[in-house]
Amino acid sequence: MASFSPQFLDEIRTRISVSSVVGRRVKLIRKGREYVGLSPFSNEKSPSFTVSDEKGFYHCFSTQEHGDIFTFMMKTQNLTFPEAVERLAEEAGLEMPRQTREEVEQAQRGNELRETVEAACGIFEQMLHAPEGARALAYLKGRGLSDATIKRFRLGYAPSGNVVKTKLLARGMAEAPMLETRMLSPGKDGRESFDFFRDRVIFPICDARGRPVAFGGRIMGEGEPKYLNSPDTPLFHKGQMLYGLDLARNAAADKREIIIAEGYMDVIALAQAGFTHAVAPLGTALTELQLELLWRMAPEPTLCFDGDKAGRAAALRAAERALPMLKPGYSLRFALLPPGKDPDDICRNAGPEAMAELLAAAIPLSDVVWRQLVGEHPIDTPERRAALERDASAKASQIADGTVQTQYARLFRERLFELFRPSKAAPGKNRGFPSKNRPKGYESPRLSTAPINRALPPDSHGQRRVRERILLATLLNHPEISEHVEERLGSMAFSDVRLDSLRQTAVIHIAQNSELDFAGLQAHLANRGFGDELANLLDSGIYVHAGFARPSAPVDQAIAGWDHTFALCHGAELEADLKRAEIELAENPSEQAFATFKALQDQSRAGAGEDDDGLDNDTH
Ligand code: UTP
Ligand code: MN
Repeated sequence: MASFSPQFLDEIRTRISVSSVVGRRVKLIRKGREYVGLSPFSNEKSPSFTVSDEKGFYHCFSTQEHGDIFTFMMKTQNLTFPEAVERLAEEAGLEMPRQTREEVEQAQRGNELRETVEAACGIFEQMLHAPEGARALAYLKGRGLSDATIKRFRLGYAPSGNVVKTKLLARGMAEAPMLETRMLSPGKDGRESFDFFRDRVIFPICDARGRPVAFGGRIMGEGEPKYLNSPDTPLFHKGQMLYGLDLARNAAADKREIIIAEGYMDVIALAQAGFTHAVAPLGTALTELQLELLWRMAPEPTLCFDGDKAGRAAALRAAERALPMLKPGYSLRFALLPPGKDPDDICRNAGPEAMAELLAAAIPLSDVVWRQLVGEHPIDTPERRAALERDASAKASQIADGTVQTQYARLFRERLFELFRPSKAAPGKNRGFPSKNRPKGYESPRLSTAPINRALPPDSHGQRRVRERILLATLLNHPEISEHVEERLGSMAFSDVRLDSLRQTAVIHIAQNSELDFAGLQAHLANRGFGDELANLLDSGIYVHAGFARPSAPVDQAIAGWDHTFALCHGAELEADLKRAEIELAENPSEQAFATFKALQDQSRAGAGEDDDGLDNDTH
C-alpha cells in the first residue's frame, strides 16, 4: 500500500478547500462559517450536509458520513485513496512524492515508533502517581495545576534509572524503535543504552492528531537545562509542530482565534484558565510552516510572550518572519505583557480577567513594525529622518503580497507625515516642515500666520506626550471624574506604548467598575504591572504643567483641566488632518479633496474658541 507523508497530505488540504471539492457535486450555501447543502449520500429534501473549511471536513447528519477532501473523492468518484491523492495533488499543483523503498519501509515503521512513544508516555503518566513520582506531582500541584489539567495534557514523571527501557523490554518491545524515537540514548563505547529522560517532569508533545511523538522534561529544582527536549526524530520535527495544537485546534477554529505562548507551562496554565486555544512553538523561533498552520485556524493569531527582553526579541523575530508572508486578512497580533511576566504568571496571579484584558489590548503587527522602526531612528536631523523614511519603505517592500504591501507603504507614509509634521503653533516651526511633502510653489498662509505661543515645549511630539501624561495623572488623582472622561479616553491612542497600555487597562477597569476609588484603581494598575509607570506619573514634574492634576485640586478644576487638555490633544490631531488635506488639495485638486479640506476646516474653526492657549501653567 502506498503511503504519503502527513505533511504532503496536509499540504494538499491547505491548498484545496473542502467546499471547493464538495461544491462541484453539491450546491452549497454559506451559513456562518460553514456551508450546507443536500447530502450526496442520501436522497434528502432538506439539507443536512455541512462543510467546514476551517475544520477541513464535511459531515452528513442523515447518513453520518464524515470525512475530508480525500474521502469525498473516494466515496463520490469511486477512487482508491492513492488515486484520490493523486488527482487532488495534481489539482493543487504538487508533484507526487516519489517513494523510495526506504521511505515505504519507514512509513511502515512509523506505527511501531508511535507505539513505542505512546507506551513510554503511559509509563510516565503512571509514574507521576506512583510513590517515586510524589515530588513531581507535588511540583505540578504547587504550580497550580488541577488533576484534570494534568490528565488533559498527559503530564508525567520520568524517574531516575532506566524505567522506560526496562518496562518496555519486559513487554516484549524492541530496543531499536526506542533508540530511534530517542526514548533511549545510545550507550557510548559499547556500553548499554539508557533512558533519555531522568528525574524530570514530563510534558508529552503530541502531533496534530493527539498522538505523543516526543517529550519535554523539566528539572524540578535549579539546574541546566531547565527543559530537556527530545531531539528531532522521524516522528518529531520541531519546526513543523506546535505544542498543544491537538488540544487547541477545535477551540481555535470555533473562536477563529489562537494564542501563541512561549512555553509548555504557559499553554497549560492558559488552558486551565479557560483559554483552551493556546499553543507554543517548541523552544525555537516561529517558523514559516508554523505560521501557515496557525493561519489555517485563525486569521490573526495573538502572540503572547513574556514582556522581558528575550520575549520581546522573540516577538520581533516572529514579526519579521511573518512580514513577507502577510496576505490580505491574515496577520498577527501582539499582546504586550509586563516585563518578567509570562501568561502562566498572569493567569495564576492576576487571574483570567487580567489575561483577557491583555489579549483584548493586543496591538497589530503593523504597529509593532512601526514602533520598531521609530525606536531605532532618532529624527532630529533631515538625514536621520530620511534614513527612517528609507527604512520604512524598505520594510514595506519586504511584503510579498502586493495589496498588503501597498497598504503598509501608505500607513508608513501617513505615520511619517504625522511624526515629522511641525508643531501647530511653535515659533519658527515652519522650517521643520518636510519639504518632500510640500509641493512646489506651495505656501501655507495658515502656517505662517498661526499665532505664536511661546509657552509650548518646542516639539509637538514632546508636547503631545506631556498632555497624555497630564490626562492620566488627572484621572489617577481624581478617579471620580472617570465617568466623565471614560468615552473620550477610550477613543484616544497615546504615543507612548506603555502609557497607551496603561490607558487601555484603566479604561477597561473603569468600564467594569461603577464605583472607583483612588486606591482601587491604582492597585489594579499596579497589579497589571504598571507600578513603574504609576510611580513615574504621580511623582513627576507634571503638576508644574497642570496644577489641576494635583490630588489636592478641587474636582471641578480637575474636570475643566482634563477637558481642556483633551481639547488640545484633539485639536492638534485635527490640525494635522487639516494640513494633510491642504497638501492633498494643492497636489491633487479634486472635488473630493476640496470637500475633505472644507469639512476639516469647518471643524477646526468650530473648535477654535477653546483652542486658545497651551498647557496650563506651563513654565517651559
Ligand atoms: P522559559 O525559560 O520562558 O520557561 O522557556 P517557562 O516556559 O516560563 O517555564 P517555567 O514556567 O519556568 O516552567 C520557554 C520555553 O522555551 C523552551 C521550552 O519550550 C520552554 O517552555 N526551553 C526553555 C527549552 O527548550 N529549554 C530550556 O532549557 C528552557
Ligand atoms: Mn514560566
